[in-house]
Amino acid sequence: MSEPAQTETTAEAHFTRLGAGYDDEAFAGAGLRWVSERELDAVRAAFADLPEGARVLDAGAGNGRVTRVLDAELGLSVTALDAVPEMLTTIERWNPGTRTVLARLGEPLPFETASFDAVVSLRVLKWVPAWEHALTELARVVRPGGRVVVEITNRNSLARLGYRHAPVTPVARRSVREVGARAGICWTSEAAGTHLPFALWRAASGPSALRAVAAVQRGADRALGPVGARSIVLVGERRPSTLEP
Ligand SMILES: C[S@@+](CC[C@H](N)C(=O)[O-])C[C@H]1O[C@@H](n2cnc3c(N)ncnc32)[C@H](O)[C@@H]1O
Repeated sequence: MSEPAQTETTAEAHFTRLGAGYDDEAFAGAGLRWVSERELDAVRAAFADLPEGARVLDAGAGNGRVTRVLDAELGLSVTALDAVPEMLTTIERWNPGTRTVLARLGEPLPFETASFDAVVSLRVLKWVPAWEHALTELARVVRPGGRVVVEITNRNSLARLGYRHAPVTPVARRSVREVGARAGICWTSEAAGTHLPFALWRAASGPSALRAVAAVQRGADRALGPVGARSIVLVGERRPSTLEP
């Protein structure tokens, strides 16, 4: 693990408390795992054509939910970054070969420009007050033509009600698209994480409840696409540097 972060933020204190227990809490029960799989499927689809060994940054890697897919399933060479040492320790325990970096999104990242073939960041930007800077840095460290996948908590959705006691900043999808475009990202697709509140997914812990809630979600997908979704996965590509001003 490299470079310690300096002053812990409120979000980091929250994740330090959760530590290795984060995945158990966030993905307990069939409903929460269903949502997780949808997000991971978006990552699988976005990275399916990357060659084995391609360099990917998992920014805000947590306990390694995404890192494991990238590494164990897709055979990519992953760098897992997080601001909380306990999170990276969990990943190192799972796979001592994974490169881990202790650093904070929202501050300059400790990587050369264009160091990665792809970057991914799921369920993280909402915890970063300086999310614009974080996204701009993610765009900097991916090579021209490289892939960018970020999940956001959509301000224009019921998500606004779900985080009243947490230091979370929901963002408007349009703002993310604009900031990303200014940083050189050409957005290519979007998928809804889910339109429904997490409390409902948590309650849908058995097969029949999950079937009912998943049917509502599929209906929302058909009727609305990502519009009004509480969580959206955006996929883009770093524009070739020749197009930059
Ligand atoms: C909700 S978890 C998501 C983990 C993982 N991406 C996933 O989808 O399973 C958010 C992670 O972001 C990390 N985090 C929060 N603020 C951060 C920051 N400013 N820089 C880097 N990591 C941060 C937390 O420590 C935590 O591990």
